[in-house]
Amino acid sequence: MIDVTLESVSKRFARAGDTAAVDDVDIRIAAGEFFTLLGPSGCGKTTTLRMVAGFYFPTSGRIRFGEEDVTHRPPNKRDTGMVFQNYALFPHMTVAQNVAYGLKIRKVGRAESKRRVDEALGQVHLAGYGERRIDQLSGGQQQRVALARALVIRPRTLLLDEPLSNLDAKLREETRVEIRRIQKESGTTAIYVTHDQAEAMAMSDRIAVMESGRVQQIGAPQEIYHRPANAFVARFIGRSNVLTLPVAAAGPETVTVALPGGEQVTVAAPADHGLRESGTALVSVRPEHIGLTSATEAGALTGRVTELEFTGMSTNLLVDVAGEPVQVTAIDVPAGLVAGDQVGLRLPRERMWVVRP
Ligand SMILES: Nc1ncnc2c1ncn2[C@@H]1O[C@H](COP(=O)(O)OP(=O)(O)OP(=O)(O)O)[C@@H](O)[C@H]1O
Ligand SMILES: [Mg+2]
Repeated sequence: MIDVTLESVSKRFARAGDTAAVDDVDIRIAAGEFFTLLGPSGCGKTTTLRMVAGFYFPTSGRIRFGEEDVTHRPPNKRDTGMVFQNYALFPHMTVAQNVAYGLKIRKVGRAESKRRVDEALGQVHLAGYGERRIDQLSGGQQQRVALARALVIRPRTLLLDEPLSNLDAKLREETRVEIRRIQKESGTTAIYVTHDQAEAMAMSDRIAVMESGRVQQIGAPQEIYHRPANAFVARFIGRSNVLTLPVAAAGPETVTVALPGGEQVTVAAPADHGLRESGTALVSVRPEHIGLTSATEAGALTGRVTELEFTGMSTNLLVDVAGEPVQVTAIDVPAGLVAGDQVGLRLPRERMWVVRP
C-alpha cells in the first residue's frame, strides 16, 4: 500500500506537434485508494497511466511512490501490476503459467510460486482453472486471469486500463464489483482508467475528470455529480442541462438568475464564481431533477415537447422552453403525451448549481 503523486506532469510526443497529450497534471492518490481517470477518447488517460507504470517517461514533472521519486525508473523496478485493455495474455500458455509469469521473472521459487498462483486464482474465483488453456476460457474469465496475473506479484500499485471494455453489459457490472472487492481486500492502491462515467461512479473513491490532457476536476463521485466544477464536467458526468441565464444579483456563494419565463431564483455557486449583475451565468441542472407537470400549473415553466424517447425505466424528453432546449428525464409521463404537446417544468432551485465555462 503506497500513495502515488503526480506533480506537474506533462507528456509531449515527438512529431505530435505542439499539443501536450498530458498537460500539467497534479494528482495525489492516497494509499489504498481506488482512483479513476475518467474522460473522453484521446484525453490522455492511457498516457498518464503509462507514465505511472514506467512505459513512458514524462516530458516534465515528477512521479512519486511514497517518498520515492520513480519518474525515470523502468517498469520492472516499480512494483506495479498492470492490466491492459486487451488483457495481453499469452495464448499458448496455461492459465497458471500466465499468472506465474511475473513470479518467474522475479525468480520466486517453484513451491512459493505455486502457492501464490493458487491464491491469486482463488481471489478472482478461478480456483481449479490453472491447467486450462487461455483459448478455452470466456472473455470474462480471461479478464480475471489478467487481473490475477497483476495481483500475484503483490504490487504496490494496481493499474487498470479499461479492463472491462470487451465484456457484455451484465458481465461488466459483475466484474466491476469483483475488482472493487479484490482491491479493497488486498489494500492495493489502484488507478483505473475508463471513459464510462457510470463505471467510474460505481467503483471509485475519487475520480479525476480529464479533457484535452488536463484535469478538469478531482473529487468523490457524489461531489463531481452534484457539484461539477465546469460545463464540461456537468455535461460529461451523467447528462446535464447547462442553461445560460441572465444574472440579477450576485452574492458570495449564490447567484440570482432569471429563468426563461422571467421568474428569479437564487442558486448555489462556487465561492470564486466571479459573476456580476447584468452578466450571464451557466447554471447546471440534471434532467432527472426537473419535475414534469401540466402546462397550466402555476409557477411552472412552459415548453413544447420536441423529442420523446422511452428507455424502459424512464422517458427522456427534450422540451423547448422559449427557444432553449431542456432535457428532462421522467419516470412517469402522462398517458398519450406526444411530441408537439405543451408541458410544464418545475426547476428545483436547490438542485441547481452555477458552473464555470
Ligand atoms: N505514442 C504516441 N505518439 C504520439 N501521440 C500519441 C501517442 N500515444 C498517444 N498519443 C496522443 O496523445 C493523446 C492522448 O492519448 P491517450 O492514449 O492517452 O488517450 P486516452 O484518453 O487513453 O484515449 P482512449 O479513451 O481512446 O484510449 C491523443 O491525442 C493521442 O493521439
Ligand atoms: Mg486509452
